[in-house]
Amino acid sequence: MSIVLPDSVTAAEGEGGLPVLRVATALVTGEVYLHGAHVTAWTPAGAEPVLWVSSSARFAAGEAIRGGVPICFPWFGTGREPGLAPPPHGFARLAPWRLVAAEEHDGGAVTLTLELTDADAADVPAAQDWPHAFTATYAVTFGRELTLALTVENTGEGEISFEEALHTYLAVADARTTTVQGLDGATYLDKAAGGGPELVTQRGDVTFTAETDRVYDSTGTAVVVDESGGRRIGIEKEGSANTVVWNPWVDKAAAMPDYGDDEWPSMVCVETANALDAAIALAPGERHTMTARYAVTR
Ligand code: BG6
Repeated sequence: MSIVLPDSVTAAEGEGGLPVLRVATALVTGEVYLHGAHVTAWTPAGAEPVLWVSSSARFAAGEAIRGGVPICFPWFGTGREPGLAPPPHGFARLAPWRLVAAEEHDGGAVTLTLELTDADAADVPAAQDWPHAFTATYAVTFGRELTLALTVENTGEGEISFEEALHTYLAVADARTTTVQGLDGATYLDKAAGGGPELVTQRGDVTFTAETDRVYDSTGTAVVVDESGGRRIGIEKEGSANTVVWNPWVDKAAAMPDYGDDEWPSMVCVETANALDAAIALAPGERHTMTARYAVTR
């Protein structure tokens, strides 16, 4: 299917020669790679870039891009079943998605819709470990807000169960002076402490003082307060039971080949997810949508 692009959308060869779609209107600029349906840029007019991408990120088939918004699907982390571990976070972020629609709205926002089926993903390593028929549809709306809506439909004949996350890397001036509001009182699994069975209760705002890797039970809005950068990034969501907060800190940053050793103060991940016990089960023909909406304020 050949899609007619509005004037505000350009199809180009991006980093590593990978196909990329670039959006530029009076309201916003943005970028999404077909590889992984990976949003790598969103910058409302007059703002600094909101998404963070590592200067060591790898843009190549078989690699997940470090930064932007990787899509974790159909499992999160190492997954809940033995045998799903490699690659971590599932195969969707390594798969070739297809553009199925591009629309510029009145007012200058642009929606790009990408799709991935089990057939599209068949050649991606580990896709065979999850032998289920599905269609994933990802609507990305670049505007003064960024709206990401991931819909998964069970197109097979048996029930399916999956985890998912929009693993958003947000640019901050300094993680050490950044807090996350909206999670006070929520319980979380502390993966940085080994992910033991006991849930911990959040008291007050989240601060970053060490490696932070937490899966919160939370359906509410989170706000990243970037004190040094003088801005707030609000994340509203629907269809999501978990918020994951991650910063690798010093040692883990140094251990990742696609992440600069000194980059950890410049980002925090706040992820909209359904993971672990909140995995989604769909009967044949059913679908589920998870939506995240980001807005920057002073
Ligand atoms: C987070 C996980 O969502 O993603 C962390 O909770 C993980 O445990 C991080 O380290 C990065 O994952 P990856 O596979 O992109 O290096």
